[in-house]
Amino acid sequence: MPLQIIVGTQWGDEGKGRVVDWFARRAGIVARYNGGDNAGHTVTVGRQTFKLHLIPSGAIHPHPQVVLGSGMVINPLTLLSELETLRQAGIDLGPERLRISHAAHLITPAHRALDQAQERSRGKGLIGTTGRGIGPAYTDKTSRHGLRVENLLYPDFTEQVVRHIEEVNRQLERLYDAEPLNTSTVAEEFSQAACQLRPFVAEVSGLLAAALAEGKEVVAEGAQGTLLDLDHGTYPFVTSSTTTAPGALAGLGLGIRPVERVTGVTKAFQTRVGSGPFPTEVFGEAAERLRGTGANPWDEFGTTTGRARRVGWLDGVLLRYAVRLNGLTDLVLTKLDILTGLPVLRLCTAYRADAGPLPDMPWQDLPLGPADLAPFQPVYEELPGWQDDLGTVRRWEDLPSQAAAFIRRIEELAGVPVQLVSVGPERDQIVERKHDL
Ligand code: IMP
Repeated sequence: MPLQIIVGTQWGDEGKGRVVDWFARRAGIVARYNGGDNAGHTVTVGRQTFKLHLIPSGAIHPHPQVVLGSGMVINPLTLLSELETLRQAGIDLGPERLRISHAAHLITPAHRALDQAQERSRGKGLIGTTGRGIGPAYTDKTSRHGLRVENLLYPDFTEQVVRHIEEVNRQLERLYDAEPLNTSTVAEEFSQAACQLRPFVAEVSGLLAAALAEGKEVVAEGAQGTLLDLDHGTYPFVTSSTTTAPGALAGLGLGIRPVERVTGVTKAFQTRVGSGPFPTEVFGEAAERLRGTGANPWDEFGTTTGRARRVGWLDGVLLRYAVRLNGLTDLVLTKLDILTGLPVLRLCTAYRADAGPLPDMPWQDLPLGPADLAPFQPVYEELPGWQDDLGTVRRWEDLPSQAAAFIRRIEELAGVPVQLVSVGPERDQIVERKHDL
């Protein structure tokens, strides 16, 4: 019963999209388990670049069935427009191929308005959310008056949306001094569009269990990354879902038994959008070199918001934390090619606290998790860089020796093997490292 969970080990944007696309080659089902259209997953196939927000990246292949799990929050308007964009690109995801969990929650225009009003009210303490309504939709879910996907099937769905918008309007006006939405217009337009999704609604937990029992491979795709996890990330500068591997089980309705492999996707350096701690962050010229100028689609600018990402050196302390938290079996290292030409590479191997280096015991690296990293400074190790272009490398033996040494050092720090290395944005720009897993 082979379930592979694919999770980001950093603050999202690790390149999970192309990694899921790689593993989906042999999958029977690809399933997204958390988040909403705050995510932006990019897959490049030949001259086509797909930017996906809700649909799992493996859907670009013609064969796997596609599942949106109960751990997600789904804006029907974004989903419909994503389906249309895919259709125009020749990928038709009808109800026989795409199944949406009845228990996933809906994001409405009111959730988006509330998210944006809440951000404005945070002033300097703003989280830097994507403004897509993610937090308010998950808040409604946990306070048990959210709108679930199954509500689309009820005859009084429009009235439910009206009540929801009226409730949010009260908050917008009274708490945030913000403009209310036009209840009847928004409710009518939203409900009409959303009801187009009725044929896709399904009980996906049973469907996944049956597929696994038949021996089909299921690839579970996480959105965002470990350090944005609601419980275990850099709280409060996190998203509102369980981004880590256990979220795949709750967010798809599966037990622990089928899990065969948990793959962590790690960028060869570190990036983050939005506010929050980032011990290895760099600024100025060094930052511009890692970020790029925005001229290329793979430069470090948000897929969803277009914001310039903060950038820095790979943080081995946070990587070890991600390995432990997710129970990772292996890693995929992305964007190694971006480091080409840098004379010296830095890797953070430990943190130094005001009281001196912390004892070399992994579970003491972060005494209280990553929420408050202000007391720590990174301790760096320097490694020699390489000059050769990596774009055409396909075999481990053809990597420059400095690049291979860099990867081996990451494996030592993480304590798990690197299985794949990406050396460019194209589907085939991947180097496989043969380990027996
Ligand atoms: P929210 O998920 O829109 O509420 O945003 C909360 C935090 O998570 C903000 O710092 C966002 O920039 C960040 N975030 C949300 N989704 C992603 C993503 O897909 N990639 C990177 N950062 C994200």
